[in-house]
Amino acid sequence: MSHTLSADLEFWFVQHADRMQRELFEFLRIPSVSARTEHAADVRRAAEFLQRSLETIGCDVEIVETPGHPVVLAEWRRAGPHAPTYLVYGHYDVQPAEPLDLWETPPFEPAVRGGRLYARGSVDDKGQLYLHIKAIEAILAVRGGLPVNIVLVAEGEEEVGSENLADFVRSNADRLACDGVVVSDSSMFAPGIPSILSSLRGLAYFQIDVEGPTVDLHSGSYGGAVVNPATALARILASLHDDARRVAIPGFYDSVRPWPETVLREMRALPFDDGTFLGETGAPALGGEDGFTTLERIWTRPTCEVNGLLSGYTGEGAKTVLPSRAMAKVSCRLVPAQYPEEIGRLMRAHVESVAPPEVRVTVTELHGGKPWRAELGGPLFDAGCKALEAAFGRAPVIVGEGGSIPVVEVFESILNAPVLLMGFGLPGENAHAPNEWISVENYERGMRAVACLWTTLG
Ligand code: BES
Ligand code: MN
Ligand code: MN
Repeated sequence: MSHTLSADLEFWFVQHADRMQRELFEFLRIPSVSARTEHAADVRRAAEFLQRSLETIGCDVEIVETPGHPVVLAEWRRAGPHAPTYLVYGHYDVQPAEPLDLWETPPFEPAVRGGRLYARGSVDDKGQLYLHIKAIEAILAVRGGLPVNIVLVAEGEEEVGSENLADFVRSNADRLACDGVVVSDSSMFAPGIPSILSSLRGLAYFQIDVEGPTVDLHSGSYGGAVVNPATALARILASLHDDARRVAIPGFYDSVRPWPETVLREMRALPFDDGTFLGETGAPALGGEDGFTTLERIWTRPTCEVNGLLSGYTGEGAKTVLPSRAMAKVSCRLVPAQYPEEIGRLMRAHVESVAPPEVRVTVTELHGGKPWRAELGGPLFDAGCKALEAAFGRAPVIVGEGGSIPVVEVFESILNAPVLLMGFGLPGENAHAPNEWISVENYERGMRAVACLWTTLG
């Protein structure tokens, strides 16, 4: 074990632990739900909270307006023009907390139970963003300065598709110029096993609307003579997969590139157990595309999922109607080199080709993001490995990821800088669900890992 966190920083972290937790609680109490207009003022309050936190530790901070929620842009550049510059990205917006009655303690009243800090945003991503700020604070407090320049970008629209962030990055590309980007908005493979991501899936999100008669009809008087929009939609949705559970949209797999053998080998060496994973889901059995393991299905294969369905009578008892309309939310997770625009074109063409002519079918593209694959080498990656080893007492594993962080590909392509994804969540953390939590131990170790990263890179 060659790497450990230096004693001065460790001492500071222990001394300031209580205060830092109080501050994090204050941040988590702000219901910064980006999807809800009634929370717009709260989203802004969270941005202002970050501004104060970052100014207090010695950064120059600007709240940059966008057509949506603001971006917090903080800079610490006193390492000078010859030192490297790194960009830290995180998001301060959170998912809606509903259904509220399933939370054991209220979503915006942070509570610690059994080594877990429960709150909406604790792990996704306010907690993970905040630990970066505290790591910077520690080094500035103890050493008087950082050996690297830091630009921190905190977004308020990640959970609603980062609609304005690509423009922000493009129009501020000079100011965001850097030697690498660090993101903590993901999870570790298992407790005690620090992890670096080798990939993220992309996303293409659609709404499919099927319209038939102008109003719900009596299913006795009209049924059999008017095509039912719910049935038409069900048939469209059923046509999205074949019997081997492959996506049946023609051309869907055409641009999928083979996965690097080295990454596949690392994946197969991971201690993954289908039974444990099944237990986490509570489903009766696992299932997916024929010919692939569970990790391969989640990390390396594209998918098409129905996210929601709406049609007809769903209340108590029976009501004999032929619904006037039906709607589905459908999203595809993408792998390199599938792009959302192309998948959108294929989806539209497929739905048009199977839709019956007696109903009106429209496909609307909601949001999307490109997939991403890491380089897994270079000074930032090497320093990340060392820092994680110092904080967790063992070297990190390389893992894939089924989720999406669209801005990662945007940073890499516009700033032409490598991205390091080291997250501190855990399986079962309930991100986007009731009772979201972050492991207090991971939060503490994560903070130390980030401090170690910056001192190592200096
Ligand atoms: N932090 C997640 C992405 C993520 C999920 C990373 C799971 C690691 C594990 C992010 O906040 C998120 O939820 N992304 C959305 C995409 C976005 C376009 C709404 C997702 O993956 O659904
Ligand atoms: Mn997130
Ligand atoms: Mn999220």
